[in-house]
Amino acid sequence: MKKFLIAGNWKMNKTSAEAAEFAEALKAKELPNAKDVCVLAPFTLIGGLGKAFEGTGIGFGAQNVHFEPSGAFTGEISVPMLKDLGVGYCIVGHSERREYFAETDKTVNLKLKALLQAGITPILCVGESLEIREQGGEQTFVAGQVIADFDGIGTEDAAKVVIAYEPIWAIGTGKTATPDQAEEMCAFIRGVISGIYDDATGDSMLILYGGSMKPSNAKELLEKPDINGGLIGGASLKADDLAAIAEAAASL
Ligand code: PGA
Repeated sequence: MKKFLIAGNWKMNKTSAEAAEFAEALKAKELPNAKDVCVLAPFTLIGGLGKAFEGTGIGFGAQNVHFEPSGAFTGEISVPMLKDLGVGYCIVGHSERREYFAETDKTVNLKLKALLQAGITPILCVGESLEIREQGGEQTFVAGQVIADFDGIGTEDAAKVVIAYEPIWAIGTGKTATPDQAEEMCAFIRGVISGIYDDATGDSMLILYGGSMKPSNAKELLEKPDINGGLIGGASLKADDLAAIAEAAASL
């Protein structure tokens, strides 16, 4: 049976009251696959979400982290601080962080290593811009990101990483990649991982699609053989929509 992860990326949204309301609404859905669902929240909401989801199986985590355990890094949050809150997941290298906050493959690589060492599952984002796709360079570009991001990470650790393929042109634009486009790249990424490591690591890796996934298009994306779930931005802000996507995964 194919493994799934349905991950909501709230980005910079919600107050604690709104998060509490969301958590109650999601819990009320009693999802059969609650363990395959997680919410990546702003730092201020993580502690509350952890408490609200206690005993439900629903995962929770962060959208970014610093790679140093402590020190003079004003405004940053470290892996031990996330660990303290019991987070299971952390997004690394989201395209918005790469674009607006100078995230590079080098810092992404350091963050992956720090998270893996602490036993937190990284959700590594990769994906090309529209310009690169129009030039036909998307596979070369994404392979380059994967190779750089996994540099120096051993097989056992690599197997614990979740990869999210997020074409930048599909994020928040309402313009979803077609299921075939998403499948093609997810299969390609699986091949890159198999090439760096081995087939077992490539075959078992969770590879998600992200970019305007919503209840109306989730099933056709999720039923593709190399797509193990979604990283969902806009549609994850409503418990009904996130639950509908999780239910689509559970039905497959
Ligand atoms: P979107 O965002 O679903 O709103 O396109 C996805 C993401 O950026 O993770």
